[in-house]
Amino acid sequence: MKRLTAVYSKACTLNSFMESAGIYIHIPFCSVKCIYCDFYSIADRENSIPRFINAIVKEIETCSMDVSNWKLETIFIGGGTPSLLIGSYIESIIKALERKYDLTMIKEFTIETNPGEAPLERLKDYHSLGINRLSMGVQSLEPNLLKFLTRIHSTDQVFKTYENARSAGFENINFDLIYSIPGQSWEIWERDLLLMLGLKPEHISAYTLTLEKGTELYQYVKKGQVSMPKEDQANEWFLNTHGILKSNGYPAYEISNFARKGMECQHNLHYWRIQPYLAFGPSAHGFDGNSRWGNVRSLDRYINQIESGNSPISMKESLTQKNLTNELIGFGLRMNEGINLAQIPEKYLNQFNTNLESVQEKWSNVLILLESTVSLNKKGMIYADAVGVDLML
Ligand SMILES: C[S@@+](CC[C@H](N)C(=O)[O-])C[C@H]1O[C@@H](n2cnc3c(N)ncnc32)[C@H](O)[C@@H]1O
Ligand code: SF4
Repeated sequence: MKRLTAVYSKACTLNSFMESAGIYIHIPFCSVKCIYCDFYSIADRENSIPRFINAIVKEIETCSMDVSNWKLETIFIGGGTPSLLIGSYIESIIKALERKYDLTMIKEFTIETNPGEAPLERLKDYHSLGINRLSMGVQSLEPNLLKFLTRIHSTDQVFKTYENARSAGFENINFDLIYSIPGQSWEIWERDLLLMLGLKPEHISAYTLTLEKGTELYQYVKKGQVSMPKEDQANEWFLNTHGILKSNGYPAYEISNFARKGMECQHNLHYWRIQPYLAFGPSAHGFDGNSRWGNVRSLDRYINQIESGNSPISMKESLTQKNLTNELIGFGLRMNEGINLAQIPEKYLNQFNTNLESVQEKWSNVLILLESTVSLNKKGMIYADAVGVDLML
């Protein structure tokens, strides 16, 4: 018993000195704005790329965040469509990060790409820069659905880009897929899923199409020009999708994320485990363990602020211990590993237990209660957000 306590306190001490952390870089450029996408991205602004690179390098150089207690283990270049940037631009960003931070412990370095917008030579350049994970925005293999989603790539380009990624040396590849798209049949979705599985990627993100306010799709639905699939169907597809992926060796480790053993996205796990991360680029959000902050959601304002010597940060909020605990609960429930009970402060345990009892009464048979974790079973995952709200303090 004594030995166990000693091991525990050593782990805690190490943890409190060096917390696992990540870096997020947001590249806002896209060739076309997709009708469903609410991420900050803009089309037809490629001419601003050189100024943007200078600005983001300056943002990195002037960042005053104290990261001396962080163990930087992941970098994620997301967007937008980062693969629109040639290798030398990505290199400028990486060099700026290297000058500023200790990147020797980076174990996962991802870049997002769109099929047809990531030529072989560029992928080779990315790989030689140390990027070791590629996330491909496939969404669908069905030409009509790609057209509906206003994607500009073809089905063939999905296979070609994947082949190029493998020959460029990438051994860790993710496919982003979307299902529950208006007009999509289960047969088409199942076919796409099986075709994607046949390529043996390391990771699959399968998202149900979300209707985001402020998108073109939202307007179509509001005007009655498009109908979204009914909730019952979405729930049934969700369970069947999880079943197919699991039986093919890709169990879910988060509601929409599936991986072969050991290939879970370490960067996203930082977000869901409420670990810290730096963030650079327009609209990028960061977290230092106590506060969250976000940059302006405008390329022009972002560049202007930095060029005139000002910070691009447009919002910052300190989280109370209660806020942080609620985040642990909300994000924890979305993961297979569940809520880590050891992270709930003692002063909230009573209230948490009371909430747990009422959730068990209201939602029958959705929770898995273990000694050190609370998680949701497959059926419960469908209602993760609602159960999370009921469980929060
Ligand atoms: C913002 S994109 C960036 C990467 C790349 N530009 C692309 O399109 O794949 C990241 C992923 O978010 C997902 N996504 C974006 N909007 C979505 C929505 N409304 N519903 C479901 N998934 C969405 C897509 O699967 C997409 O691949
Ligand atoms: S889904 Fe990807 S390609 Fe489409 S607008 Fe959003 S970021 Fe750009």
